[in-house]
Amino acid sequence: MTLLILNGPNLNLLGTREPETYGHATLADLEAELREAFPEVNLVFYQSNHEGALIDRLHEAAREGVAGVVFNPGAYTHTSIALRDAIAGTGLRVVEVHLSNVHAREPFRHVSMLAPVCAGQIVGLGRAGYHLAVRYLASLR
Ligand code: DQA
Repeated sequence: MTLLILNGPNLNLLGTREPETYGHATLADLEAELREAFPEVNLVFYQSNHEGALIDRLHEAAREGVAGVVFNPGAYTHTSIALRDAIAGTGLRVVEVHLSNVHAREPFRHVSMLAPVCAGQIVGLGRAGYHLAVRYLASLR
């Protein structure tokens, strides 16, 4: 089974970016720990700071027939109708993940454009959220 782990803008800065909010682990650390935790799953990682590149990668994932997507859209969560349309338009099974508890932060982070077209949303559990999302998607078939 193949799952896409998709990370949006500024998540390449994990480890140095606002560590009090996002922790000290890097995106490479996250990738390594997920690969170790789920050796039976073919995990494909992609990060981009560009909305269009994320949309293109979702289209590609749908063409490839991936079983699901774990998606941290970063700030595009709160703004991107285009990413929402990409999820709806491809019919991909997507779990939205946020490291921080967006509901405990600024009001503009309380709204997700994407959540209504996702299978579910995991927020505030740090890197464990990615693990739980992979476990959920991997359990489906
Ligand atoms: C985030 C939350 C977003 O509001 C923020 O813009 C991010 C990271 C998170 O993982 O907590 O870039 O998606």
